[in-house]
Amino acid sequence: MEITNVMEYEKIAKEKLPKMVYDYYASGAEDQWTLQENRNAFSRILFRPRILIDVSKIDVSTTVLGFNISMPIMIAPTAMQKMAHPDGELATARATSAAGTIMTLSSWATCSVEEVASTGPGIRFFQLYVYKDRNVVRQLVKRAEEAGFKAIALTVDTPRLGRRESDIKNRFALPRGLTLKNFEGLDLGKIDKTDDSGLASYVAGQVDQSLSWKDIKWLQSITSLPILVKGVITAEDARIAVEYGAAGIIVSNHGARQLDYVPATIVALEEVVKAVEGRIPVFLDGGVRRGTDVFKALALGASGVFVGRPSLFSLAADGEAGVRKMLQMLRDEFELTMALSGCRSLREISRNHIKADWDFPHYLPAKI
Ligand code: FNR
Repeated sequence: MEITNVMEYEKIAKEKLPKMVYDYYASGAEDQWTLQENRNAFSRILFRPRILIDVSKIDVSTTVLGFNISMPIMIAPTAMQKMAHPDGELATARATSAAGTIMTLSSWATCSVEEVASTGPGIRFFQLYVYKDRNVVRQLVKRAEEAGFKAIALTVDTPRLGRRESDIKNRFALPRGLTLKNFEGLDLGKIDKTDDSGLASYVAGQVDQSLSWKDIKWLQSITSLPILVKGVITAEDARIAVEYGAAGIIVSNHGARQLDYVPATIVALEEVVKAVEGRIPVFLDGGVRRGTDVFKALALGASGVFVGRPSLFSLAADGEAGVRKMLQMLRDEFELTMALSGCRSLREISRNHIKADWDFPHYLPAKI
């Protein structure tokens, strides 16, 4: 079957992958209300395209933290990619570099920071989970720095793992032969079978539930890399993140895998953007599957977006070539959206190019 949009990779991945792996990649927390809402909310934002503008040349390139990239579409950190394909994170890294954009490597990757760096040049960020044992964190951050990673994406929405019921039913564990490669030497690389989700048990044992704002200062004291705070969805936290010297914010609800019934990220985005007042860049992930979604996020003030599941499903379907094609399709759709809206560069994308359902008088957002 010819693939014509990124969502089609999910069906192929579902057919190819063992149930435990597909369920781990696809599912959200509890009722999965937020999982659906992350997608549905995009459909409540409509375009106000401008016409008769010369769109014979369109530039989709941009700059993120001072790095020039080919498009405002980047790869979110997703764990354990060798479950999708034997090349795992190495294939994702190669495809992302070839596309001229940024890959974020998960702390829980099945390839190490050094292995990913060895795939060749590329702008890469490292996603960090803070472990109770801070020596582990110190070592890991240092290794990421030495391997040439350019920023830390600090995940702040996971003091405990959200309740993902299929992982509990499947007794999720890392398949034999795979480890969390970054932690292998520290004897923390295995996710064993338990009578729960093995990952939930691992998180309960290792991840620091006491993590708080002061730890951003601590992290700044052990690294000179810029820190993106990943998992902010309120204006209040956005202001504190700026105060604490975050280099950027990623509006994320962890792909709806943590707290269920939080709003879709595309709905939460604007309050964060307003609170930040342009002091640092704001990014978004969650439910981005179309070029039109990318445009809507940018119109609401995002500097760029990250995609999670599309990279896993395209990797599962066709390895590096799949991830390349997924990125190319999103890029092409985004460029077409710009042309049909009358925008020639990202600078020209404005709030006036869209109308969201909350722009209508009957919609009453919470007063902050
Ligand atoms: C994730 N996500 C994630 N986030 C993170 O900070 N560290 C991680 O290790 C992971 N692992 C992970 C695994 C899987 C299977 C998924 C689906 C997600 C969350 C990820 O970075 C991102 O926030 C979401 O995936 C974005 O939503 P979409 O694009 O998947 O809808």
